[in-house]
Amino acid sequence: MCGIIGFTGTANAVPKMLKGLSVLEYRGYDSVGIAAQTAGGVDVVKCKGRIHVLEEKLRDEPLPESRCAIGHTRWATHGGPSDVNAHPHRAGRVVLVHNGIIENYRELAADLQKSGVTFLSQTDTEVAAALINACYDRLGDPAAAIRQATDRMRGAYAFGILFDDRPGEVWVIRRGSPLILAKGQDGFYLASDMTALLPFTKQYCAMEEGEIACLTPEHTLLMREDGSTQPAVWKTTSMTPESAQKGGYPHFMLKEIHEQPGAVRKSVSPRVADGLPDFSADGITPEFWKTVKGIQIVACGSAMHAGLVGARVLEELAGAPTTVHIASEYRYYPPLFSEGTLVVVISQSGETADTLAALRYAKSRGVPTLAIVNAVETTIAREADRRVYTYAGPEIAVATTKGYCTQVSVLWTMAAAIAYACGRMDAAQARAVVAALEQEVPQAIEAMLAKRDQFARIAKGLVDHEHVFYIGRGLDYAMSMEAALKLKEISYIHCEAYAAGELKHGTISLIEPGTPVFALATDPALVDKTESNIREVRSRGAQVTMICREGTAVPAESTDEIVYLPDGSAPAVLFAALTAVQMIAYETAARLGCDIDRPRNLAKSVTVE
Ligand code: M6R
Repeated sequence: MCGIIGFTGTANAVPKMLKGLSVLEYRGYDSVGIAAQTAGGVDVVKCKGRIHVLEEKLRDEPLPESRCAIGHTRWATHGGPSDVNAHPHRAGRVVLVHNGIIENYRELAADLQKSGVTFLSQTDTEVAAALINACYDRLGDPAAAIRQATDRMRGAYAFGILFDDRPGEVWVIRRGSPLILAKGQDGFYLASDMTALLPFTKQYCAMEEGEIACLTPEHTLLMREDGSTQPAVWKTTSMTPESAQKGGYPHFMLKEIHEQPGAVRKSVSPRVADGLPDFSADGITPEFWKTVKGIQIVACGSAMHAGLVGARVLEELAGAPTTVHIASEYRYYPPLFSEGTLVVVISQSGETADTLAALRYAKSRGVPTLAIVNAVETTIAREADRRVYTYAGPEIAVATTKGYCTQVSVLWTMAAAIAYACGRMDAAQARAVVAALEQEVPQAIEAMLAKRDQFARIAKGLVDHEHVFYIGRGLDYAMSMEAALKLKEISYIHCEAYAAGELKHGTISLIEPGTPVFALATDPALVDKTESNIREVRSRGAQVTMICREGTAVPAESTDEIVYLPDGSAPAVLFAALTAVQMIAYETAARLGCDIDRPRNLAKSVTVE
């Protein structure tokens, strides 16, 4: 999604914009631009395409040296990618960059047109710029103009704004879209996420909803909706610039897959005390777990898939009836809440608009909420009643790997905590679960990472196919959903996940000689049944790869290839299977020459509904 960067201070701002924008590239974008302010006003250079296109343009049309600037990477929503639709947008004395969507922009544009305003682009952002400019012309005060204009806007926005006649000032407001302020040695910054600021500083301040900020070279002032003002309060992030770099790997995705063993340990260990599951460091007591009678998990994409695994584990270990909901559908098919319902939202970025809207819906109904989030201090983390952070570190590749992996590990730990608090598990059983998560799972992932040659060989056999299937039963079906998403989002090969027993009810008609089918079979109790389904597709010509535990008796005629997983506990084997499917997706996309870290049309943090 769109990325914002801005600076005002004593240093040359344009190189900082280019640096920050290059870090924001991971969010996904199709156009880019910079506005630089000097005593003479604000100059803009922008274009469709990647940052190197902007750099070329800047060589032909250099921006004046400036100490105050804003920059933007755009992910098109209103109006296709083009030079004119790229941000920053100018209207009168106002130049701004925007992240989010102004839902009532047509109505606002119609009003502005009546008073003679014309628009160059198809964007909602230009309408926002024109409205702020009209208010500024009338009121002459930036804060009052921004407040009056945004009071008329519906939707989500984070704006970075320059005024021609306010040298050295960057104005900022956010509602519904993320924006972070930061303080460096040479001035003040804004950005849509902390990773873009890591090259410059570690001191940050997360803005509240509806807050306006004025950044000058000397200070940062925050203005609340109630009119009160206060200086920014700075915190220090534990993230390092290295954590947002590739560290010798060709792609962030590969680096992040390799970081999974450590990320799981870091996410589980803070929830273990004396060998038992314990969330007291997150402010969650056993008494709270005892009040939980049912759980609704709400999330999008891979986070929702993590919820599918979590739901099965929560029901099996904790006996808590658990349903999983796609966040964008949650409000339109309102689930029934009853006494003891807990809504758990899951989000790596903590800013996904659909998940945030679902969280707000649950809160508006008075239901207790808990967020499992990776990015600290993000909107979802702040708004939920309780938060449990995954400690995956910054995830840069658009395709989540360690994010999903840590979400599942935290859900599994949570299931053990509830089961232990409610007396469904004794101490020995609870200890065994957390020991498996903390020790065995990281080892199982490491063991799978050593099988890269096999994954590369499997990938070679996939690249010429248009359709692939993943099948499985129980937890393996839940994991198949994630496996299929990983393959299709980065390799662009169509891939479907099916419950192994469901294929024969229609979809088996798509199986042709050579169609690749991956069968996940990690549960010894279900292997025989899954094997019957494998035979069904194999007898129709499918090329079958089975992913199962070492020692599983697989008849030679059932499969073309076997990926063996180190035998062990259920979580260890499942996480080993996860690593295998991630690596198969990665190797396939690499062989196809795809843009692995930034797949087409996708964005890392989906901040629009
Ligand atoms: O940041 P979130 O976890 O809320 O993101 C949810 C989905 O957009 C995300 O999991 C998406 O499906 C992944 N990038 C897929 O790899």
